[in-house]
Amino acid sequence: MSNEPAAASSAGNRSLADAKSAKQDEFYTQYVDIQKEVEAYLEFDPDTFRAKVVYCNCDDPFESNFFKYFAANFNRLGLRKLITTSYDGSPIAGAQLTFGEYDESNSKRQKPVAVAVEIEEVHDLNGDGATGIEDVKVFLERNPHTRTRLEGGGDFRSSECIALLKEADVVVTNPPFSLFKEYVGEIIAHGKKFLIVGPKNAITYKEIFPFIRENKLWLGSGFANGNAYFSIPSHSNRTFANGVFDESTGLVKFRNVGWFTNLDHGRRHERIPLMTLADNLRFSKHKQIKGKASYERYENFDAIEVPYVDAIPSDFGGIMGVPITFLDRYDPDQFEIIANGDDRDEMQALGVLPLGSEYVGNAGRRKVGLPSTKKAPYKRILIRARHPSKETAK
Ligand SMILES: C[S@@+](CC[C@H](N)C(=O)[O-])C[C@H]1O[C@@H](n2cnc3c(N)ncnc32)[C@H](O)[C@@H]1O
Repeated sequence: MSNEPAAASSAGNRSLADAKSAKQDEFYTQYVDIQKEVEAYLEFDPDTFRAKVVYCNCDDPFESNFFKYFAANFNRLGLRKLITTSYDGSPIAGAQLTFGEYDESNSKRQKPVAVAVEIEEVHDLNGDGATGIEDVKVFLERNPHTRTRLEGGGDFRSSECIALLKEADVVVTNPPFSLFKEYVGEIIAHGKKFLIVGPKNAITYKEIFPFIRENKLWLGSGFANGNAYFSIPSHSNRTFANGVFDESTGLVKFRNVGWFTNLDHGRRHERIPLMTLADNLRFSKHKQIKGKASYERYENFDAIEVPYVDAIPSDFGGIMGVPITFLDRYDPDQFEIIANGDDRDEMQALGVLPLGSEYVGNAGRRKVGLPSTKKAPYKRILIRARHPSKETAK
């Protein structure tokens, strides 16, 4: 598939590629990461989930930490309903709480078969004075009507899951990365709010980037530096590059994984503190900038190359090519996103012709008297300041 990790140069990225080619994307999000991420939205708006139907559509009811987090915090978040659907043949379904439905099916279905669990209330059933996951367990054991066997195998694209999606306000999960584009396309087409884990390389996919440009999708709060830890089933016989799997914790470390969302959070409204263009040229800590007469310009269109996010000049009114890590700090009030510099179609839409063949190879470049390093917005996002002015400089 074209959704391979961008630079499979690090052990972490290789491990992610391995995970994606596995029959199932079998790695599971930690409770603490879900908690930390959700807290970031609650800090911004305590009512983010109030009176909402939350749907976890790639999750084993009970074993998934997405289920556990939203079930345990049902009352605190003020949820109206929590819907969770599992997938046929899940290797962890039933490990902590088993349902009779897991074994009911014709022989064509992989067991445990997929189920939907719908919860509309959580009470203190074990009498410990609080509501938590143990109460949810008791409730599910006593109330078989909360479960439905899914005939469509629990595929998020099945008609049953789509019907549940239509009922939902917010979709929260870590979906299979191998189906990420399709997954995002589906939830956006249905106009849903979402908070999902995904591969950071997806940012530049043709199917994803336009959503980012149109502010229909942005990066969440956590995993900012891309180090994310996931658990894998204990019987998993997968092999990982050195340093990826930690036997003592049972966790794998993936780089280049992030949260994708259309829920608002505080960091999205924190301006990046920046210097003016003149001050960058004088004081920048980066040798590519400090002491130069100007920022470099691309050969094939009118924009400046900004190799570091903290070197974006505050007072430049034109288009700038910035690293993709800019999106970790993107404040839509400070900048607008113009295009993905790697996408030929997007560049052509801007009236930019691809570099001619004479510009591409080093030999050709030498012939026309150009330096061998190509100045095109490769691996760059093109942005423009909304209010370029010296006042925005710090
Ligand atoms: C990366 S795992 C994450 C599991 C869980 N959401 C979590 O974060 O712990 C992806 C999950 O999607 C399920 N899955 C795979 N293909 C699916 C599909 N087409 N529809 C729904 N779920 C699917 C897998 O069984 C697996 O549980």
